[in-house]
Amino acid sequence: MNKSSLEIEKVIKLSEEKLTNDNDKATQSLEKTSNEEIKLSLSKLKSLGNSSKRQLLDKALKFLGEIYSEPTSPHYNPYILSRRINECIDLIERIGTYRHTLIEMQYGAQLAWKNSARCIGRNYWRQLDAFDYRHLESEEEIFIAIRNHLNHATNSGKLRSSVTFFAPSDELGNWQFRIWNEQIIRYAGYRGKNDHILGDSKNVIFTEAAIQLGWKPPTEKTAFDILPIIIQKKGQFPKLFELNKQEVLEVNLEHPEFTWFKDLNLKWHAVPMLSCLGIEIGGINYTAAPFNGWYLGTEIGARNLSDKDRYNLLPIIAEKMGLNQKYESTLWRDKALVELNIAVLYSFEKAGVRIVDHHTASNNFVHYEEKEKELGHKVTGEWSWLVPPLSGSVCPIFHRDYEVLDGHNSEFFVQEDLAHNFLKLSSEIIHKLDPSYLKVNNNASGKTCPFSGAII
Ligand code: ARG
Repeated sequence: MNKSSLEIEKVIKLSEEKLTNDNDKATQSLEKTSNEEIKLSLSKLKSLGNSSKRQLLDKALKFLGEIYSEPTSPHYNPYILSRRINECIDLIERIGTYRHTLIEMQYGAQLAWKNSARCIGRNYWRQLDAFDYRHLESEEEIFIAIRNHLNHATNSGKLRSSVTFFAPSDELGNWQFRIWNEQIIRYAGYRGKNDHILGDSKNVIFTEAAIQLGWKPPTEKTAFDILPIIIQKKGQFPKLFELNKQEVLEVNLEHPEFTWFKDLNLKWHAVPMLSCLGIEIGGINYTAAPFNGWYLGTEIGARNLSDKDRYNLLPIIAEKMGLNQKYESTLWRDKALVELNIAVLYSFEKAGVRIVDHHTASNNFVHYEEKEKELGHKVTGEWSWLVPPLSGSVCPIFHRDYEVLDGHNSEFFVQEDLAHNFLKLSSEIIHKLDPSYLKVNNNASGKTCPFSGAII
């Protein structure tokens, strides 16, 4: 018997034991049914051999075990476990897939968050609102649901972590819907002369793909033009949608001391809402499942606005501060970086938009880690991503060791970049361009978000 069969038998056995050990008279008949059903299921299960159905079942049962039979799970319930085991075995045997309840999807996404080794904000993993929109069939309806999610998440600045589920991949593993955007709100990047880029260079490829699909950028282009949302249904041409300016909360940046700072006309959007990652829960792949948290200040100040291949603002800020940029040893970059990060935190706080600084986030994470250890749980972690990109060594995470653990029942996964693929195809075939045309995206890719671990 292989390892996963053993795991399944363990889950089932556990469920049987839990049922038998419960002496509550009122539940005895239920116990009996459940036990008998489980035995029947077990025999059906064995007849599945080692097929793809069996593999899905392995994952499904491990996940159901985690949600309903782990004593620390808020959904611990052996009765539900036995019923769900039976339902899943039956469905997978008949149609090759199974369906989660909303609670299962929500807990699955919470676990995926808990399992993201690169995320520093995991102490909040239980706080994730979930919306079930699996029944939606059109791109238009999906756009409305995304809008609703954004509105719920924004909550006038009191950001709420949320996830929206659209139809998952089918029994053959084919996706039903994909959202091409890396995040629901992102700023366009326009390639100009001499490799100059206006806006976010990270989004140049997406911007060009959107334009080829019919997006009309504003006549007066700026460095902060909100990109359209591109939604694709299986087998269909992608469709474009635009959010209204009023529904996207943005924060204009100012500095508590430098009055000139606000004249730089910088801003950032309030809600980081990732839409490119998939979520695998108990063997089911949700390929369109946007989710959001809130910003860690350094994501904006020490990466988005300061990375050389993003907005590259440090030389400009240093100049305004009158710093000597001739020698690295003046630490002009560091001084400018700190002031930029102060401006981000100050402006978000002043605007009443939820954000967290890297010291608080690090302290909270270490506290969470300690509490998990007390419960006998191991915490997965990737040091180089957990350490904030500013003042690393003064944050406690820097001084600790982390290990990436695998074998989770729920996790986020990276998906193909459809905008990139589309542009590659159209630039090579239709416009006969050199593939190096796409290089700008390659430069910016390979980076992952220090807060969620997402590839950005
Ligand atoms: N790093 C990304 C960005 O700067 C956001 C990724 C998700 N971050 C989060 N705090 N949930 O836009």
